[in-house]
Amino acid sequence: MTTIEGKRILFTGGCGFIGSNFVRKIHNNNEITIMDNLSGGKEEFLSDLISKGKVKLLKRDIRDPSSFNNMGEFDMVIHLAADSDVRQGAIDHKFSLDTNVIGTFNLLEFMKEKGVREMIFSSTSAVTGDTDVLPTPETFGPCLPISSYGASKLASEAFISSYSHYHGIKASIFRFANVVGRNSTHGVIFDFINKLKKNNKYLEILGDGSQSKSYIHVDDCVDAMIHVFNRTTKTDIVNLGNSEVTSVKKIAETVIEQMGLKGIPMKFTGGPEGRGWKGDIKHAFLSIDKMTSLGWKNRYSSDEAVNQAVKESLKQILK
Ligand SMILES: NC(=O)c1ccc[n+]([C@@H]2O[C@H](COP(=O)([O-])OP(=O)(O)OC[C@H]3O[C@@H](n4cnc5c(N)ncnc54)[C@H](O)[C@@H]3O)[C@@H](O)[C@H]2O)c1
Repeated sequence: MTTIEGKRILFTGGCGFIGSNFVRKIHNNNEITIMDNLSGGKEEFLSDLISKGKVKLLKRDIRDPSSFNNMGEFDMVIHLAADSDVRQGAIDHKFSLDTNVIGTFNLLEFMKEKGVREMIFSSTSAVTGDTDVLPTPETFGPCLPISSYGASKLASEAFISSYSHYHGIKASIFRFANVVGRNSTHGVIFDFINKLKKNNKYLEILGDGSQSKSYIHVDDCVDAMIHVFNRTTKTDIVNLGNSEVTSVKKIAETVIEQMGLKGIPMKFTGGPEGRGWKGDIKHAFLSIDKMTSLGWKNRYSSDEAVNQAVKESLKQILK
């Protein structure tokens, strides 16, 4: 069993929302090189660490195999880079393929060439597609994604599994529920706050508002990844989520309340079958039995994670 300590880590997507929180957590005990094209992430999330040389940032694109030239040696890869814009994938179906599948393939080839044998990968509840099996365990199948984002992550899981077998890689594949918290640059909380910042006469809500998902705070998500990786010895899939769900309408109420905008009307777009957009899973609720059995317990419930994340996002967006 090895732990995330004293390692030379190649961290893709390290300037993104989850990546920047993860890098900050582990940079003291590891030597971190971030590969990020900054299409979604922001250098400013880590500018203090980058400018002091505590972490190294390579502005490179994982879609291009030559990005992996002259990279040096690594003990481990943490792979979070992705096109995480799920809505865009509904319009441009090739959107997720290039970054999420080809990018992951390029990275796996690099790991094969360099003999890197340990990996963390960020997958998603979107791999399962619509299901009545709620909470949904890791063993659920067949997985029939309803979005190109979900399809691309399922394909990545499959490639990682095959490379693990061929090349003796231990990969911890994490399927995240909805992750919320500081440095978020997308998602429902970010969306609501920005809409209300622009116009606080009403709040437009995609779908019928009854969409329900479980939310996990980014601090819990990062700590859970470290906890599980440190305690497992072989390639496996583990859901990271919460034991309850929060509705979109409840999130809207929380944002409105924390912004001090009592009584403002909510306008629901209705959406396809009440979804936010075509490809959005209306009720997503991952089982966390496996996560719990590995000894991890979240600090924040789903509602508490939302509350805390709204606080953190308001501080960053309204500053
Ligand atoms: N946030 C969530 O709720 C959630 C849920 C499930 C899974 N995930 C997964 O977790 C990971 C991190 O998500 P996030 O919310 O922090 O998203 P994010 O968009 O903030 O982070 C992704 C990072 O990848 C970088 N990137 C994108 N394309 C790249 C490319 N071609 N080459 C190099 N870098 C590139 C972006 O600049 C960004 O810094 C993603 O893989 C995402 O699919 C997130």
